[in-house]
Amino acid sequence: MNTAAMVQEAHRILQLNDKGHYTVPTHGLYPFQWNWDSCLTALGQQQLSDDRAWREVETLVMHQWPDGMVPHIVFHEPNDGYFPGPEVWGTGRPVPTSGITQPPVLGLVLEQLWLRSAQDGATRNRCHLLMQATDRWHQWFYRCRDPQGTGLVALLHPWESGRDNSLDWVDALAAVPADHVGPYQRRDTQHVDASQRPTQFEYDRYVALVQGFRALGWDNSRLHDASPFQVVDPGFNAILIHSDQALARLAHAMNDAALSERAEARAQRGIAAMDSLWSESHGQYLCHNRRTGALVDSASVGGLLPVLVLPAGHPHLPALCQRLRESLALAPFGVASHWPQDPRFDGKRYWRGPSWLIVNYLLIKGLRASGERALAQDIVAASLRCIEHAGCSEYYHPITGEALGGGTFTWTAAMVIEFLQHHQA
Ligand code: SER
Repeated sequence: MNTAAMVQEAHRILQLNDKGHYTVPTHGLYPFQWNWDSCLTALGQQQLSDDRAWREVETLVMHQWPDGMVPHIVFHEPNDGYFPGPEVWGTGRPVPTSGITQPPVLGLVLEQLWLRSAQDGATRNRCHLLMQATDRWHQWFYRCRDPQGTGLVALLHPWESGRDNSLDWVDALAAVPADHVGPYQRRDTQHVDASQRPTQFEYDRYVALVQGFRALGWDNSRLHDASPFQVVDPGFNAILIHSDQALARLAHAMNDAALSERAEARAQRGIAAMDSLWSESHGQYLCHNRRTGALVDSASVGGLLPVLVLPAGHPHLPALCQRLRESLALAPFGVASHWPQDPRFDGKRYWRGPSWLIVNYLLIKGLRASGERALAQDIVAASLRCIEHAGCSEYYHPITGEALGGGTFTWTAAMVIEFLQHHQA
């Protein structure tokens, strides 16, 4: 496939999955609006229509909770092809939503949308309202997910990480009691082969966590301390910090000094705290299980994502770059979501090995900002190799390039546009 054909196919997929004011990740497997899917999709949509791109994130933010959380799924219309649906979550929102959140890419996306927009008065107003909502969301994170004020926020459910079945959560998830869950029917394995999805053992615990939070009335002032699952993910925190840095820059440009200072202060505290997650022996960052107090011995791409926030010259940057180079040498189709030489690596199973273009995008963004342009370019090439080989799929086998998960996938299409438009050389 040549460049023009790739862009044409990406546009076709964005339109195919467009519901007018939001976009589904793919029909069938994910029939609603997902938080970080939607935000990253807006980057690709902006090439087709600036207004449509802003609308995508406005629709998401419209469903922000009164406490500030932006939920991970908005169930705009009924669809029984997905489990767990709104009746399982029972969050009581006017338009039903899930009760957990997802990686906060909104801040970094707003900065990109603004920089690439006409920057007229109307767009400025739209952007500023979205910045204020993002600030409220970020305040929620530190209030409700870092009650001890460590500077790093915890995930209470693997789905919040976006990296659902990563090996990072194996032990923390095994500690979640699931004997009371009761019968339910998974829908995901009706759309995608079970070998590419999380196991039943994991699903039972995903559902048990949802049931436990629901029993607490989704009261975010209680969920953190009550949750049997509390994991601090370096990747998730890096995204939050990076989004705060973007928010601080944007607010500064718009003369909102108070917002800019708040966002900058949060980012500074986060960066300082991130050091506690560094592993010298792995040459990367690791997750921290807040329940047990231990670092998690699992070399996933979450521990490489802090390249998003490390400035040029940071002492840990060379090790992370080396790790990325070695990963690409072992698995050339994108960046593997788990270290390919770990015996538990599974190149087909969702977040246990496959590569994801949205993760590649975040790595590229960080590497370019810190001057690692050659490595960034290698990751662009590795990403486009997946598209040439297998089209716009949800994820890819990082060694063979096989298309995995859902097909005609929205955020993958958006990333194709992003890479071809903005990240060539
Ligand atoms: N990614 C999850 C799923 O597969 C939910 O966010 O259903």
